[in-house]
Parts: sequence; structure tokens; C-alpha cells
Amino acid sequence: MQILVTGGTGYIGSHTVVELQNKGYEVVIVDNLSNSQIEVLDNIEKISGIRPAFEQFDLSERDLTDAFFQKYSGISAIIHFAAFKAVGESVSKSLEYYRNNLVSLMNLLEGMKKYKIPNMVFSSSCTVYGQPDVLPVTEETPRKEAESPYGNTKAICEDIMRDYCKSHEEDINCIALRYFNPIGAHETGLIGELPVGVPNNLVPFITQTAAGLRDELSIFGEDYDTPDGTAIRDYINVVDLAQAHVVAIDRMLTKKSKANYEYFNVGTGEGYSVMQLVKAFIEVTGVDLKYKVVERRAGDIEKIWADTSFGNAELGWKAQKSLEETLASAWKWEKKVRGL
Ligand code: NAD
Ligand code: UD1
Repeated sequence: MQILVTGGTGYIGSHTVVELQNKGYEVVIVDNLSNSQIEVLDNIEKISGIRPAFEQFDLSERDLTDAFFQKYSGISAIIHFAAFKAVGESVSKSLEYYRNNLVSLMNLLEGMKKYKIPNMVFSSSCTVYGQPDVLPVTEETPRKEAESPYGNTKAICEDIMRDYCKSHEEDINCIALRYFNPIGAHETGLIGELPVGVPNNLVPFITQTAAGLRDELSIFGEDYDTPDGTAIRDYINVVDLAQAHVVAIDRMLTKKSKANYEYFNVGTGEGYSVMQLVKAFIEVTGVDLKYKVVERRAGDIEKIWADTSFGNAELGWKAQKSLEETLASAWKWEKKVRGL
């Protein structure tokens, strides 16, 4: 069974390629390397013993995408990670975000129909829920208007898949996975998250501060309506998340889907505050991490965590790794990258 993994040299994609290969799937990656490095392929090979096929091009190019499908005729399913993902940047570069994220999806859906590839797993985000009125969020929780163009691309992509599936009941099958906050790295320390420039996300900022690249972590706000005043998220280990994709692929290939468009929350079901996470990092690594509390960050929500019961029951998958082991993996990766 050959699986196309778009964005497969990226953070979540690379971990998913490893898990797919470990389960015996053959993988072909498409990535334009706009936010990842070709060397990731070497490390995927070191971990899994297999070097996946790789094609470098931009999926928003319709002709190139069509030519790819002509060349690779044995694909059974697609996992579509390739997208731009920086929330702040999406505000100033909204058109680039809409073009890249929406057009790539549409080109793939078109190819699925034309080349008879029935199955796709899509990377969505808990950002589609905004700040929910009731916690934890189930799949029934209504979506809210997106806070950013990036978030809006996820909502629109979900709608495109829903509508396309509605008119293609016989030949198209999509699953959207709504990730909560993916963190951590592979236990080998060979692959992980490598943000370009100053990290926006919490865990890369913490590990870079611990490694001496940044002076101090800023904790954004301690006046939220939470037990310690700092914001709460549901942090999911990236390897657990990667395994959820393999399970979703298995579900589609074994025809267990209950509808031809489905969507699931992928989180742990546990919420941790920023302060709890920082303290857990210090405890696990023994690093004397410097931090200070500053103003809230614009656009941040106060708290969100998943109700995972529907996804756990339907997919037969549950996040396994503890926050402590996940933070240790993030630190191991950072140290390896920095040669510490
Ligand atoms: P990433 O940037 O590490 O990986 C995305 C990959 O896609 C990169 O390697 C990039 O080079 C490639 N890419 C982008 N546009 C492309 C195009 N037009 N053609 C070919 N390749 C292209 O990001 P990630 O963190 O691994 O995220 C993967 C997916 O999951 C994205 O769709 C993202 O929006 C979604 N997601 C991520 C998070 C998160 O916190 N990381 C949370 C929710 C959803
Ligand atoms: C952000 C995006 C979201 C995206 C997710 C994963 C916003 C508003 N949302 O979510 O769309 O799906 O990343 O890529 O950007 N924090 C600090 N100090 C820091 C960095 C973060 O205190 O230096 C806090 C934040 O205020 C937040 C928590 O840590 O409360 C997590 O932040 P982050 O990792 O950026 O993820 P989200 O904001 O949840």
C-alpha cells in the first residue's frame, strides 16, 4: 500500500512517515521544502531503516500535481500536511496563506477523483473551535469564526472536503483530524520541530531558552480565569499524533468509516497551564529555566482541551505518552540540534 504524505519532511509529517513505515506502508513524500530540510530524509531512514520516495514541488501548482499523480499510479491514500502554519504571518500575508492552503487541497482533491485515489486524511486544528463556551470540546461543539487567516484556511478546507464528499459518496473519503497542541520529538532525538527564526510556540521557545539561544521565556498573561491564572492547552505528543494518522488510514483502507467525511479531535483530554508546563519542564530536565510573566498575547484564547471520547472509541486510538516524557523528548531533540 503506497501512501502519499504531503509535507512529509515537516514536523508532524516526518514523525508520521516513520510510523507509517514501521507499520509496513510504502511512503512517497511531496514537499517543496519551504519550511523543512532535505536532511530530514536521512534521519527518517536512520530511524525506520527505509528511505521514503521524495518529490520536491509546490502542490499549489496544478500541472505539477497532476504530473505527479501520473508518475505515481499506485497510491491508495493521502495524508495532507503541507500548508503554511504561522498564525501571525498569516495576518500580513493572508493571500499567500489562502492560495497555498486552499489551492493545494483543491489540486489534491481533483487528483483523487481523476486518478481514483479514494482516501485522504487532512491536518485540521482545534483553532476551528475558537474559545469554546463549554469545556472540554467534543466534535459536536460548534465551530467559531476564525481569529486569523491561518485558522480560516483550516475551517474553509474542512468545508471544501465536506462539500466535495457530499457530491462524491462513491469515490471520495476524507477524515479531518483536529489537532490540539502537538509538542515533543521522536525518542531517538533524530527528528523534531525546527522553527525558523524566533519560535512563536511555547515548547520550542522553552527548549531554545534552556539551550541558551534566548535569554528568558515570557509567559503571556497570568490573569486568566484558570487555577493559576495562566492559559490552558491540551498538549499532545507528536508520536502519539503520528500514530493517530496511521489509525485513520487503516480505518479508511479497511472501510470502517461511518461516513465519507468524518472529523475527530486529537488531543489527550488533559489541560495543562503554561505555568504547569514550565514547572514540569524544569522538573524533568533539571534546567534552571529563566522566565517572567508579561502581558497577554493578542489573539490568544484562555483555555481549551479536548473531549477525546468519541475519537478514542471510533478510532480505537488513545494518546499514550505522559507530559513528562514528551518534554524530555523535546529537550533531547533541542540538545542534539544544538550539539549540546
Ligand atoms: P511544518 O511546516 O513543519 O510542515 C509542513 C510542510 O509542508 C513543510 O515541510 C513545508 O515545506 C511543506 N509545504 C508547505 N506548503 C507546501 C506546498 N504548497 N507544497 C509542498 N509542500 C509544502 O508544519 P507541521 O507543524 O508539521 O504541520 C503540519 C500540518 O498540521 C499543517 O497543515 C498545519 O497547519 C497543521 N497543524 C499543525 C499544528 C502544530 O502545532 N504544528 C497544529 C494544528 C494543525
Ligand atoms: C497556536 C495558534 C494555533 C495553532 C497552534 C499550533 C495562536 C493564537 N494560535 O496555538 O492556531 O494551531 O499554535 O501551532 O497563535 N506562550 C507563552 N509564551 C511563549 C509562547 C506561548 O506564554 O513564548 C503561551 C501562549 O500564550 C499559550 C500557550 O503558551 O497560552 C501555547 O501557545 P502556542 O504554543 O503558541 O500555541 P497556541 O497559542 O495554543
